[in-house]
Amino acid sequence: PLKIILDTDPGGDDSFAFLWLQSLAKQGLADIVAVTAADGNVHAQHTFVGASKLLQLGGFPDVEVGRGVIGGSNGEVEDAGAIHGADGMGNLSHTLPNSRQTYETARYSDDLLIEKLKQAPGDITLVAIGPLTNLAAAERKSPGVLQLAKEIVIMGGAFEAPGNVTPEAEFNIAFDADAADIVFNHCDRLVVIPLDVTHQLIFTNEMAKRVSAVNSDHPIAQFVVSLCQFMVSTALAFRETRGQAGFLVHDAATLAYLFHPETLLFRRGRVQVETKGKWTRGKTVLDRRHSAKVQPNAWIAMEVDSVNLLAILIEDLKYLIRS
Ligand code: BDR
Ligand code: CA
Repeated sequence: PLKIILDTDPGGDDSFAFLWLQSLAKQGLADIVAVTAADGNVHAQHTFVGASKLLQLGGFPDVEVGRGVIGGSNGEVEDAGAIHGADGMGNLSHTLPNSRQTYETARYSDDLLIEKLKQAPGDITLVAIGPLTNLAAAERKSPGVLQLAKEIVIMGGAFEAPGNVTPEAEFNIAFDADAADIVFNHCDRLVVIPLDVTHQLIFTNEMAKRVSAVNSDHPIAQFVVSLCQFMVSTALAFRETRGQAGFLVHDAATLAYLFHPETLLFRRGRVQVETKGKWTRGKTVLDRRHSAKVQPNAWIAMEVDSVNLLAILIEDLKYLIRS
């Protein structure tokens, strides 16, 4: 199985990715080494609770959860509580089983990242589906640590597509552009899944019903249906899906890359993060000049077979409920 650390700020779409990952672990394909909660969609305290409850729900209560490093955004970019709910989970967190892990006693996510990456150099894939604050903090504390990852798979950025929090920038990068800048300059085994492809991943209430049809009384089935309903309502209000009744499961595409790469097409190049521009801070920039001097650092997803990807996600969520 592929050893994975999930860095996440649950998050409606994070929650779907998170359940998918637990299904993959149950199928023997993934080994969840740790989960590092991040400050982002909502405050680190909520993302910690969300992450530990999702592990309890999915059947992996003993996976250690780190608490997110705070201070990345400095209030520059608002959080996304209006889209994901005040608790980051469609205000459903209270319906989920409690975890024994507590925010107060948890280790910080950067320390957990450093420990795990050093224990298994070259072996762990880091899946980062929130702002990159924890990763940058780890690199600052322990220079060179990000290069110990087998790969870092990031949901973030926008290239041809417009941004979603500013005209040009995507939330995960813009929330902590300085952190993203550090990550893009300190690891050259990056995989970037930008808005350009995730905008096509529209998950609908009808799809959630198909998942829950396996056993509609199961707590995971109920959570999937209710969270989807909440996310669809806010996605419509924020016009994220051009009026289509569904929500974007951005973060799930990172797992598609790892476990179903046939669903994506990539370009290789050097990605940098704009950190200064008044209107463009947080934008990801891909250097496309024909220049051998520009060292590539990333594979960038350019196209997605969304029909296939969503069908696989649905099947794997069903698997988790059955297991
Ligand atoms: C990203 O921002 C967050 O709101 C989502 O969870 C996703 O990781 C999309 O821009
Ligand atoms: Ca996220």
